[in-house]
Amino acid sequence: ALIDKGNHRHFMLKEIYEQPVVVAQTLKSYVRSLEEQVSLPDMDFDLAGIERVAIIACGTASYVGMIGKYWIEQFARLPVEVDVASEFRYRDPVLLPGTLGVVVSQSGETADTLAALRHMKEAGITTAGIINVPTSSMAREVDLLLPTHAGPEIGVASTKAFTCQLAVMAALAVNLARAKGKLSPAEEAEIVHHLVETPAALNEALSHDAEIEAMAHTIAAARDVLYLGRGSDFPLALEGALKLKEISYIHAEGYASGEMKHGPIALIDEHVPLIVLAPSGPRFEKTVSNMQEAQARGAQVVLISDAEGIRQAGEDAMATIEMPKVHPLISPLVYAVPVQLLAYHVAVAKGTDVDQPRNLAKSVTVE
Ligand code: G6P
Repeated sequence: ALIDKGNHRHFMLKEIYEQPVVVAQTLKSYVRSLEEQVSLPDMDFDLAGIERVAIIACGTASYVGMIGKYWIEQFARLPVEVDVASEFRYRDPVLLPGTLGVVVSQSGETADTLAALRHMKEAGITTAGIINVPTSSMAREVDLLLPTHAGPEIGVASTKAFTCQLAVMAALAVNLARAKGKLSPAEEAEIVHHLVETPAALNEALSHDAEIEAMAHTIAAARDVLYLGRGSDFPLALEGALKLKEISYIHAEGYASGEMKHGPIALIDEHVPLIVLAPSGPRFEKTVSNMQEAQARGAQVVLISDAEGIRQAGEDAMATIEMPKVHPLISPLVYAVPVQLLAYHVAVAKGTDVDQPRNLAKSVTVE
């Protein structure tokens, strides 16, 4: 098919809007129906023999790895380590037998990730790859290819590949959990139920685009922006900060909510917007108390939460963005949408080249 922007002003916006469709497409190849289990492509090794997992990636894909760590540890009770590929390659990692090495990459060509994959293969461990380009070097070299079906991603800043990678990572976590005897059929059915709700929740998240656009000029005026999240929302805070700095050139940092008092709180004043990712649920209260510590020091907060969370803690926020109420498993996929839209609209407000930001490349094939 011809690759064009359709009715959208930029490829990035088009790709953000494609997410309900491409995530559904991706999920369809792993979750066949509500009654069925989550399945993976055929493999010539036994998942039950996996004792630990090492996930390697760069950039946005590395945050998928961090979220995967929360999921695999929670569901499959296997220890997981996550590394950026450039560090993994050179730190002489200990790769014990029984390790599943997982690379995550949109292009399948990122030089450091490819080198890390080859390193793992030389060490004799089994490898899997969550990859978007099926003809890529990594797709050809992994033992188990776990494809994302995001379609071609043109915008340099990754968006739809990220949420599709998360969908596949969830499928991998569930399969590992089942293989390790840590998941009852009833628990798996519940997870499947929540996963198949994701595309509708993504659509609902997208319906808040105009509100996000309306607040973009305020964020565009900032010199520094801080993102906070806890648990699997923490890597999403890192992703929010990365997206913003990549395309709007505003300095941004993502922090684990609980770490804020160990440093970044010193930066807080009325000029540093704080973007708080806090779905209501088990992590909510703690994150909100971190948010209030910042508000007491003048922080201007954008609270991204669901109706319940906004009712409880949104009163003193500069702005709130309401997300649908979703299961904690799928909240990183859903909360990715406002994070992407905010970066997009801030960049447009600043007049930067959204699809081709300065100094960045879509696929980094040199070290
Ligand atoms: C570049 C892109 C990022 C991407 C990273 C990893 O830096 O600008 O958007 O996350 O490479 O790319 P990969 O193709 O391996 O996912």
